[in-house]
Amino acid sequence: MKLKDLKKVRELEIELIKEYFSSTLENKWEEFPEEWRDNLGASSRNHFQPYLDSGLSFVAEEDGEIYGFIFAQMLHHIADCSNLVWIENMGVDPMLRRNEIGYRLLRETLRAGRAQGAEVAHSMIQPDNAPSIMLHKKIGFFIDNRKVALIDLKDPKLTL
Ligand SMILES: CC(C)(COP(=O)(O)OP(=O)(O)OC[C@H]1O[C@@H](n2cnc3c(N)ncnc32)[C@H](O)[C@@H]1OP(=O)(O)O)[C@@H](O)C(=O)NCCC(=O)NCCS
Repeated sequence: MKLKDLKKVRELEIELIKEYFSSTLENKWEEFPEEWRDNLGASSRNHFQPYLDSGLSFVAEEDGEIYGFIFAQMLHHIADCSNLVWIENMGVDPMLRRNEIGYRLLRETLRAGRAQGAEVAHSMIQPDNAPSIMLHKKIGFFIDNRKVALIDLKDPKLTL
């Protein structure tokens, strides 16, 4: 993935975020604050740079069109791991799914990560995302019942 790809990747990532939220947001997307929408996704202005610099993010491109993307970066000293590939998000154009694009994007990130010295890769998957679970299993990921716990440290109501 290069800087020149970012505009098209952004369009695709936003389309896929909308697809993901479509059942809960009930098409009220436009009513959400612009700043909130602008900050969503790894392709957003404030977040893309480390993913471009990592050499671990890729696009599926043909004739100047972008049909898929994967955002990943290397994290260091996580648990007992010196180098860990963190996969933030990936997606494939809905019209072109089940053509091995997702598989090849994920494989490329893992190959590049291994070449950079990674020992492990982590990928965030929603438990109801069957296509993504199946894709990760196909490539060899181990998936158990672990949950990720999040806390918003900027929440003014939070008392610590
Ligand atoms: C998940 C996603 C990236 C898969 O991309 P894709 O290009 O369609 O996947 P592939 O064609 O490479 O499929 C590879 C394997 O994944 C699994 N898979 C993919 N889509 C599947 C589906 N709808 N149902 C069941 N298994 C599926 C299969 O095991 C498949 O291998 P097979 O075709 O030999 O059975 C795509 O569905 C997508 O963009 N979803 C919306 C965004 C998203 O959920 N991103 C993941 C965030 S973690």
